[in-house]
This record gives sequence, structure tokens and C-alpha cells, in this order.
Amino acid sequence: MTQRTSVLIAGDSRCEQAIRREKPDARIVGVLKDPALVEYVAAETNVDEIVVDRQLSPRGESLDEWIARFRKAFPHVAVTVLGESVPRNRAHTPATSVITSQTVVVWSPKGGVGKTFISANLACAAAMATQGKAVLIDLDVYSGDVATYLDLSDGPTIIEMLPELPRLRPDGLDRYTQKYAPSRLNVICGPRRPELSALIGVEHVKQLLSLAARRWGLVYIDTAPDITSDLLGEAVDAASAIVLVITQDVCALKQGKVALDIFRKLGIQDSSVHVILNRDSKDAPLSERKVEEYLEKRLASVVPDDRKTVERSLFQGRPVVLSGKTEIASSIWRLLSEVSPGLPLPDMEKRQNKTRRFRFW
Ligand SMILES: Nc1ncnc2c1ncn2[C@@H]1O[C@H](COP(=O)(O)OP(=O)(O)O)[C@@H](O)[C@H]1O
Ligand SMILES: [Mg+2]
Repeated sequence: MTQRTSVLIAGDSRCEQAIRREKPDARIVGVLKDPALVEYVAAETNVDEIVVDRQLSPRGESLDEWIARFRKAFPHVAVTVLGESVPRNRAHTPATSVITSQTVVVWSPKGGVGKTFISANLACAAAMATQGKAVLIDLDVYSGDVATYLDLSDGPTIIEMLPELPRLRPDGLDRYTQKYAPSRLNVICGPRRPELSALIGVEHVKQLLSLAARRWGLVYIDTAPDITSDLLGEAVDAASAIVLVITQDVCALKQGKVALDIFRKLGIQDSSVHVILNRDSKDAPLSERKVEEYLEKRLASVVPDDRKTVERSLFQGRPVVLSGKTEIASSIWRLLSEVSPGLPLPDMEKRQNKTRRFRFW
């Protein structure tokens, strides 16, 4: 029997489709957009070849530098670089077999702007689009609200996991994870009491995020506003995308602008930072356009201010993306398609989004 070549794709599902067409006999062992994760998998498994998407953006180095470093570290692995012209023909997109790996930090320098609302809904939408291959981790360790948003206040939390973390394998996380049944989202809740948060260290976060990425692929992280927090720093280091939540409030905008500046100084690619305007109101003095002008950045999505829907959703512990077609739910699906392009949207959202001003795929 001939041995099939095992191929690891450093890119997205579009590259996967291209490779499946070009190398139908290859055994695709994974599709990863995070170069650090590609290196990890290459070290841990027997990979014959990696196929690299030209659009991949490694942290702190150019793609060519990353490829040179990879070749040196893994001389036995063949490296093929795909051009920019990977076909985008979505007609052949496999509806449910998209394997995507991404770590997304939802953050804002301000409290109360909707980080938990956005992260809970975004993660739920991702879980719905991937049949449960997503996890939401509550890293707002002092005052995490994820459990409340999803009505999961009784199960295990991150605290019970801590002593076991150094020995855990990816599937060992399941013991400390709750399932939010309506969307099949996996959830790692924060400590039930704030004083327990002191037990969580940077090393724990590092280990947890690495395990979670291998266990589920799509990792969403809710955070606290404190930019000096080491735990936030660790999450940002591991992130392949950042969702910056702002509102039309002048303070939130000013702080948002400073945050964008800091990200640039940290060498974080502008394309991996997605700004979402939450609680958008037509009555606000600053329009969406003015916000974009001020931030010098396109908004990934705009979530309307809809107190009635959001408060009902919180009261029921049921994210708005589960409750049919509303403007607020559509805005979350739009955000998902910006942050994680290629994930299949529900049919109704696809139809509705065709008419929107935001770009899809
Ligand atoms: N789009 C929205 N429309 C109306 N209310 C919202 C919206 N987003 C968030 N809220 C409300 O704002 C409050 C703060 O949201 P939350 O997600 O807990 O903020 P953060 O996590 O940034 O502190 C909550 O009471 C929530 O119900
Ligand atoms: Mg919160």
C-alpha cells in the first residue's frame, strides 16, 4: 500500500479546498491560520509537507522570515507556498467540514461597553457554524459574567482545572468545561468568587490557551479592561485576532484610539484587529462614519443599541444569535464573518447580508 503524504495547511479553508483539488491523495492533517500553532503541530506530529498561504501574517516577522525559520527547524518537512490567487469559489465549500483554528481576544480598555455580550454571542455563533468546534474562556477573572450570560452558574470553573493543567492533554479539558447546549458551545467559566482569581497565573493561561486551541480550534476569550494585566498580555500574545469593542461614548472612543495605537506599537498587524461599534444609536452625536474617521479604521460591524432584546437575552441566559432574525443578531453574524471568514453562516443570514454595506468573504 502506498503511504499518503500528510499535509498541514498554514492557511484557511480556501487553501484547504485548493489543496484537495490539487492533491486529492494527500492526507490533510490540519488547517491552521496561526503560524505558532503550525510550528507546534509540525513538532508534535509526522508531517511530510506544509502548504503556506501567502496571506498568512506571522507575529513580529515577515512571512519569508517565518518560512526560512521553519525550513531550518524542520528540514525534513517540504514547504510549498501558495500564491495569492487561491480560488474563492464558495460554491464548493464543504458546509460543515471547515476546520478553522483561531484564538480571538475580545477586549476594550473600558468596562461596561459590551465585551461579554459580544464575546458570548460571537462564540455561540461560531459554535453554531462549526457544530461545536468553539470554546469561550472567561478571563475576566475578578468579575466574569460569562456564566451569567449563558446561565451556567453551577458547573466547574477554571479554578478546579488549575492543579491539573500541567499534566492535561487537550481532551482532558472536557472535565472542566461546560457545554452550552443550545449552540454546543464549550465554555470555561471564571472563578465564582473574586478572591480565587489570585490563583490564576500567566503560565496557567498559556497552557490553557494552547490546549484549548488544540482541543477545539476556535477559541474566544472574554477579558477585563485592565491593559496592564499579565493575563491579558498572555491572551493577546496567543491571539490571532483581537476584537476591540467601542461605543459612541467619547471616553470609550478616545481609549479605543489609544488601544489601536498600542497594538500597532506592539507589532500587531492592523488586519488582525477588528473594531466593533456596540450600542449604536442614531441619536448619538457621533455617526458611524465619524467614528471610522476618528479611529482611521473601518468598523468590522455595528451592533445596534437594543436594550429590550439584550436584557431579555441576559434574563433568559440565551444569546441573541439563538433567537431568530433580529438586527442585533445579524450584526453578530457579520462580525463573525469578518473575524473568521469562511465559516458557514445560517441561510437566513447569508440572504440578509448580501444587501449590507459590510464585506463578506
Ligand atoms: N447592544 C446592546 N444594546 C443594549 N444593551 C447592551 C448592548 N450591549 C451590551 N448591553 C448592556 O450593557 C451592559 C454591559 O455589557 P457587558 O457585556 O456586561 O459589558 P462589559 O463586559 O464590557 O463590562 C449589560 O447590562 C448589557 O446588557
Ligand atoms: Mg464583562
